[in-house]
Amino acid sequence: MKGIILAGGSGTRLKPLTGVVSKQILPVYNKPMIYYPLSVLMLAGIREILVISSPSHLEMFRDLLGDGSRLGLSIDYAEQKEPNGIGEAFVIGADHIGADQVALILGDNVFHGHGFSELLRTTAAGLDGCALFGYPVKDPWRYGVAELDAGRRLTALTEKPSEPRSNIAVTGLYMYDNDVVGMAQDLVPSERGELEITDINRAYLEQGRAQLAELGRGFVWLDMGTHDSLLEAGQYVQILEKRQGVRIGCVEEIAYRMGYIGAEECHRLGIEQAGTEYGAYLVNLAEGTAASHPAAAATTALPRMA
Ligand code: G1P
Repeated sequence: MKGIILAGGSGTRLKPLTGVVSKQILPVYNKPMIYYPLSVLMLAGIREILVISSPSHLEMFRDLLGDGSRLGLSIDYAEQKEPNGIGEAFVIGADHIGADQVALILGDNVFHGHGFSELLRTTAAGLDGCALFGYPVKDPWRYGVAELDAGRRLTALTEKPSEPRSNIAVTGLYMYDNDVVGMAQDLVPSERGELEITDINRAYLEQGRAQLAELGRGFVWLDMGTHDSLLEAGQYVQILEKRQGVRIGCVEEIAYRMGYIGAEECHRLGIEQAGTEYGAYLVNLAEGTAASHPAAAATTALPRMA
């Protein structure tokens, strides 16, 4: 399965923060925002990733992530010239996807919760058509909304309904079989002038090939469209990292635990960031010395994710 991170848009709601930098580069506590969606794709076992952004921002991502080889990945870049909607990602990414399946994640989404990597990998392995991830929210009208029947099967999808018929938002993580490329090419822009991801999802649903995995209580999904939500996401990461001594969205750690890079590489990436807690964490991880520190012991005791 290939991966796409859509990091487009002009970040108008985050101005003046986004005056000269891309929204998806902004700090979420101690990492650039894009690390969080990148870590989700990596945990799903995806190593070939396309980053799509606006022409003026693409270079920043290239500077930050390079060709991905330091993380044992292959990262490519493509422009979305205008904010024409999420659905356009599959048109822009058609060559990258080739004949494969694809997972798309929005560059401003944070996911965190126990068992998430397992869910990602089982969903990818059992994919038949399209897989969506639903999350209960207080303000469903801001999102694509999923309706479910009594057996919790997906029955309807509506984009930003003024009167939502459920509180289940469709999150910004999607997995598709290869048909998505053709479906995206046939899309017509919506009233707001965008190629809507919800139209693609609805087409799969009509074919009886859309499933929704529900992310329940105790799970965290955050999108960072406003100053408040950006700060809250940072605070969430800070609280968990300080309390548990673990890292959320630490792409170097995930690369190491997934076996994409070895201990030596992980150590080197830590040394490159020497003088920071982040760098020290990676060095400890690579040396396996963190066990002497009680807070980090729980992390190092985790099995490697093979
Ligand atoms: C988009 C999708 C919507 C989805 C949301 C998740 O909304 O259109 O269906 O629920 O992402 O973040 P937009 O970011 O375009 O407002």
